[in-house]
Amino acid sequence: MIYVAVLGYGTVGSGVVEVIDRNNSIVSANSGDEMQVKYILDLRDFPGDPNESKVIHDVDVILNDPDVSIVCETMGGVGAAYKFTKAALEKGKSVVTSNKELVAKHGAELMKVARDNGCAYLFEASVGGGIPVIRTIITALTAERITQIAGILNGTTNFILTRMEEDGADFADTLKKAQELGYAEADPTADIEGHDTARKISILADIMSGHFVDSDNISAEGITHISGDDIAEASKAGYRIRLLGIANRYDDDSVSAMVAPFLVKKGHPLAGVCDVFNAIFVTGNMLDETMYYGKGAGKLATASAVVADVIDAAVKGTSCKYTGWDETPVSSAAGCDSYRYMVRCSAGSTDEIKASLSGAEAVSDTVLFTGKMTDSQYADLKNRFGEKIANGIRIYE
Ligand code: HSE
Repeated sequence: MIYVAVLGYGTVGSGVVEVIDRNNSIVSANSGDEMQVKYILDLRDFPGDPNESKVIHDVDVILNDPDVSIVCETMGGVGAAYKFTKAALEKGKSVVTSNKELVAKHGAELMKVARDNGCAYLFEASVGGGIPVIRTIITALTAERITQIAGILNGTTNFILTRMEEDGADFADTLKKAQELGYAEADPTADIEGHDTARKISILADIMSGHFVDSDNISAEGITHISGDDIAEASKAGYRIRLLGIANRYDDDSVSAMVAPFLVKKGHPLAGVCDVFNAIFVTGNMLDETMYYGKGAGKLATASAVVADVIDAAVKGTSCKYTGWDETPVSSAAGCDSYRYMVRCSAGSTDEIKASLSGAEAVSDTVLFTGKMTDSQYADLKNRFGEKIANGIRIYE
């Protein structure tokens, strides 16, 4: 028998219990033994829940039970989740998680603790929910030097941008609708300001580079400043606006990572990713471009990825091919990337702004497409023209 403990009986945690229960014959067959959830740790009680009898409030019960070999951390945050994860690994129990904040901050350390204690720390569900992108990069793309990862990594913001374009609605109304539908949190800050995407692209950049890419150092622009006019002008020019996390790896092994809304040409696979779906576009030096698409959030999609890791931990334990990254900060190429911009100009300013730029083309009376500019070159332009520039959005190409 393989006994599993689940830390946190929220959306993902309850999904994990459901997947292990509903798919038990598959899960057990693929694990090589029958799998069962023995404990569910939560601060709350769940009277009437079919798993009520498994709910406990003391993590030591799990840590001190030698029967429990695998722990699913679906609590979130970096406080108790970090403490409990480390303690479980030190006891030789493998830990699997969907907690991107914890993986982004302490992943390298926790993987080392796992290796030192003969167990595994696995986190497929921390990026792209149910999309199997981490395992794919680490195994199927293992012969590649990956040079770029660009992803739509947040379902909430992709839903908002899609609805703004298709329904002609503004940002505030669409955010409200996303909250009513349960896609956006009551406090949507981490999603709409790009911090959630920053954590996810930092994990992908860690894997790409083999070194620590601190999500706190990633420049993150969210979508709060995207207006209906930006979306309409982009659409007229043949583009959609998508919030992208992008990590580039240069020949000298330095890495840049950023989060921002980008214009993506209609027809590019990332432009066709709509509503709450996510996609990750990976470029390798031999394979060239591949894309992974699916549900980036949601109870059962995310739980399926967690349980796949549980099975991996059960079957392979410490030999899981999650070599991960070390704690040395990556050599940073922040600010080196350059992009063309769509610049929306206030009435009567287009010619003046265009004349100040080499390589800019006017695509309408109020819209310019610039030549390639770095972040600081664009900041200079914005400083020079102030309110005459209504908005500037990078172009992904
Ligand atoms: N808030 C996240 C999203 C959930 O909207 O994509 C999954 O990490």
